Amino acid sequence: MDREDMGRSYDAYFSSGVYLSRYPRPNRRTLRLLAGLLPAGGRLLDYGAGEGRYCFSLARSHDAAVTAVDISAVARQHLGAVAGHLGLSGQVEVCDADDATYRQALARGGFDIVLLGFGVLGHVAGRQRRIALLAELRSALAPGGRLVLGLPNALRRFRARQRDCRALVAQGQLEPGDIRYERPLDGGAIPLFYHLFTAKEIREDLAEAGFTVERLTIESLLPESAVTHSRLLGLLDDGASALLPAPLGYGFLVTASVT
Ligand SMILES: C[S@@+](CC[C@H](N)C(=O)[O-])C[C@H]1O[C@@H](n2cnc3c(N)ncnc32)[C@H](O)[C@@H]1O
Repeated sequence: MDREDMGRSYDAYFSSGVYLSRYPRPNRRTLRLLAGLLPAGGRLLDYGAGEGRYCFSLARSHDAAVTAVDISAVARQHLGAVAGHLGLSGQVEVCDADDATYRQALARGGFDIVLLGFGVLGHVAGRQRRIALLAELRSALAPGGRLVLGLPNALRRFRARQRDCRALVAQGQLEPGDIRYERPLDGGAIPLFYHLFTAKEIREDLAEAGFTVERLTIESLLPESAVTHSRLLGLLDDGASALLPAPLGYGFLVTASVT
C-alpha cells in the first residue's frame, strides 16, 4: 500500500468521525512523557499528527511551536481549523509529508521533540523506508532533542491477521511483521497497512537510523481506545504499565536520542 492510498484511507477514517470516537483524548503516559521532555517555548515536530491529540495540548501547556505533518488532507484541514479555533495559527504550522513547508521545517531543524505517536511509523511500508524516514527526522532534532515513538507490539496486536498474512510474507509480498487489514466503516471497510514491532527490532532499526534508545516502556496495557475513553482505566493502566515489562504492552512507548 503506497502513501497516497494510506492518505485516502485515513481521509475516510477521519471524515467518518470514528477515529475521534475511538481515541477521544491523548494517552496520559505519552502526554506526560512529552510534557516532561519539551521545554517551555520549545519546538515539536508531530509527524503523523492526525487530529492533533498531542500537539494542541503541548502548544497550549508549553507555548510550543509545532510543525504538524500528515499525509491525510482531511487531517491537515482539521489541524488547520482547530489551530485557528484555538487561536494557535501562529504557533502551529500544518503540512504534508513532502511539501515545501515540511522540507523547510526539516532544513531549519532545531526540534526539541520529534513525535511519531501511536503507530505512525508502522504505517510506513518497508523496513528500509522506515529507517530512511527516521534518519531524515534525526537531522531535524536540536542538540539534546528526543525522538518519541508509539509503536504496535507484534506480540499483542492483530495476531490472527499476522497468521493470515504469513503466506504473503513467504511469497515476499510483505516483510515479516507486516499485515494488511481493513477497518470496518459505515457498512464498508477501509484498507490499511501496518507493521507490528518487537522490542529487539525497534532497537535495531533505531540503531541503524543513528539513534540510541533511552527508554522503551509500555504505552498502555489495555487497548488505546479503553485508556483514552475512561480516565479511571487510563489511570489504573498507567500505574500497571509502569511496573510490567515492555513486551506485555499493547504498544511500546520509546524515547531515543541521537547516537
Ligand atoms: C494511528 S494514526 C495516529 C495519529 C496521531 N499521531 C495520534 O496519536 O492520534 C496514524 C497517522 O499517521 C498518518 N500517516 C500514515 N502514514 C504516514 C506517512 N507516511 N507520513 C506521515 N503521516 C502518515 C495518518 O494519516 C494518521 O494521521
